[in-house]
Amino acid sequence: MGNIVLHGHKFKIKISASEIQKAIGDVARQINADLKDKKPLFLAVLNGSFMFAADLMKKVHIDCEISFIKLASYNGTSSTGKITELIGINEQINGRTVVIIEDIVDTGNTIENITVQLKEHGAAEIKIATLLFKPEAYTKSLPIEYTAIVVPNDFLVGYGLDYNGLGRNLADIYVLDYIADEKK
Ligand code: IMP
Ligand code: MG
Repeated sequence: MGNIVLHGHKFKIKISASEIQKAIGDVARQINADLKDKKPLFLAVLNGSFMFAADLMKKVHIDCEISFIKLASYNGTSSTGKITELIGINEQINGRTVVIIEDIVDTGNTIENITVQLKEHGAAEIKIATLLFKPEAYTKSLPIEYTAIVVPNDFLVGYGLDYNGLGRNLADIYVLDYIADEKK
């Protein structure tokens, strides 16, 4: 699986499925050690994190729960305009150790928004586990405890990440091949 084409754009392989699984194993080992007696609640952020969440959870062997959340953006009536709310927080968050599972942390807006809302729900401790982290794009100061793979500021698809809806089903991660696009 070298190159693929999505919506007419060429992508080349960047991170193989085996590299992904190895990095997830390292994160799971840290979580198994750190959160052993915490009975954490994992909250996977849909859609992008579904594959990472499934593979990570198979390697987490401590007592824990998992649930799924989704962010909904809409134009509110206030002057701030865009408001984002969390759909799916049905679990009791109060007093819990919560681990947000993300596919990728880019600017950090998403995790910051979720963190604020989990604090409002009374979470005792909030940790972030992300498959991919783009430090060059990150604009926040929230610590990210568990990062599987650090990546440059490129557009990636596969393993949950999409390009306009396509590519989430790929087992490997691909990068947009800008050079190939320019030559077209
Ligand atoms: P943030 O709020 O800027 O940190 O962005 C987080 C979300 O943007 C991720 O959960 C993804 O859904 C999306 N995203 C950021 N970078 C990429 C990428 O390279 N490929 C696909 N989606 C991305
Ligand atoms: Mg996401």
